[in-house]
Amino acid sequence: MSDEPKPTEQETEHKRTAVALVGCGTAGGAHAITVSRHETAELVACTDIDGAKARELAAGHGARAVDTLDELVAAGPRVVVVAAGPAEQPGIVRRLVELGFRGGVLCEKPLALSLAEARETVRYAADHGVTLAVNHQRRFGAPFVRALELLRDGRVGAPVRIEAFGPKGTLLDWGPHWIDFARMVVDDDPVTWVDGLADFTEPQAHAGLRLEGHALITWEHAGGVRGVLETRRTPLGQPLVRMWGTGGAIEIGCVVSDGDGGWRPGPGLRVVDGSVETDADIESPLAATQWLRSLDELIRALDEGRQPAHDAARATAALEICLAGYRAALGGGRQRLPLDPEYSLREGVAAGGPDAG
Ligand SMILES: NC(=O)c1ccc[n+]([C@@H]2O[C@H](COP(=O)([O-])OP(=O)(O)OC[C@H]3O[C@@H](n4cnc5c(N)ncnc54)[C@H](O)[C@@H]3O)[C@@H](O)[C@H]2O)c1
Repeated sequence: MSDEPKPTEQETEHKRTAVALVGCGTAGGAHAITVSRHETAELVACTDIDGAKARELAAGHGARAVDTLDELVAAGPRVVVVAAGPAEQPGIVRRLVELGFRGGVLCEKPLALSLAEARETVRYAADHGVTLAVNHQRRFGAPFVRALELLRDGRVGAPVRIEAFGPKGTLLDWGPHWIDFARMVVDDDPVTWVDGLADFTEPQAHAGLRLEGHALITWEHAGGVRGVLETRRTPLGQPLVRMWGTGGAIEIGCVVSDGDGGWRPGPGLRVVDGSVETDADIESPLAATQWLRSLDELIRALDEGRQPAHDAARATAALEICLAGYRAALGGGRQRLPLDPEYSLREGVAAGGPDAG
């Protein structure tokens, strides 16, 4: 038997992280499951403008469904997860802060529909001592972490090009994840310009907007590394991310057709550098454990009084590249950064996309 003293009830209580959830849709459901898997977190309250969704989610997770943000804050959460989409999130974060919430907020990506809104949200949260993170959970995935280690070890030489692909989705949906990772590859080397194409003839709905069926954007970092990101309705059977170096390439998560018009992620990691080495046993590039690490990173950051690795200021830099891609694609031509912070995707899409708005 261990001589370690057992924690008192009070100490156990102190370790518990009360979490509340705003937005009980698809992402909200995944967050509720994530909270239930976390060692110390516990879902105490959830809310949605559609009360039935909140009640259903609450019932499945032993939490309380509440009608207002006032009641949500009154439930005493240390962390609030906001998964309501970019049009709503800035207003929700501001209201939480106004109501006196002073813990950590994990917002879904993208944080907002314009840089001005995103930056104002970051500033307002910081000014009031609220730690704001954005759920760029891919950065915590084992294949991504391993790929960066291999790159830093010089396995494929110096990086020259990053290619990313988003199957069944839009630039606004996949872009924040892949651009966040691309920025990690080049140690946040700033982007100088972004160009793009988008086709709206077969639009896809995302975050309350009618967005493109196909987009292709490209950008350049100050040091010369190029980025390319393609998103489309149908999978192409290509890796989710490929990092080209001067001596080879590292591929993350090949997309494999399921033979029924759908797709699933294939082997997690492949290095092509004269030889070919595949790590098929590594965790899936889309593993649910990434969500758990994302929540855990925010809780640890709060415990340690530091900024989380996925803090909202970083996320805003990835958002800028997505928004610049849309502006270029919607007729603005190549965008030299910094992007006009007032450029809003809602207005941009409404003005530039047929049938959009
Ligand atoms: N990180 C990821 O991998 C990931 C995965 C899925 C979705 N997302 C992101 O999550 C966000 C939501 O996407 P979704 O697919 O869950 O959408 P969804 O429509 O399924 O869910 C959004 C929910 O928010 C609710 N809502 C909207 N405004 C609200 C408000 N003011 N207060 C309370 N509730 C409100 C809606 O009623 C809805 O139930 C999007 O930005 C999306 O990109 C991220």
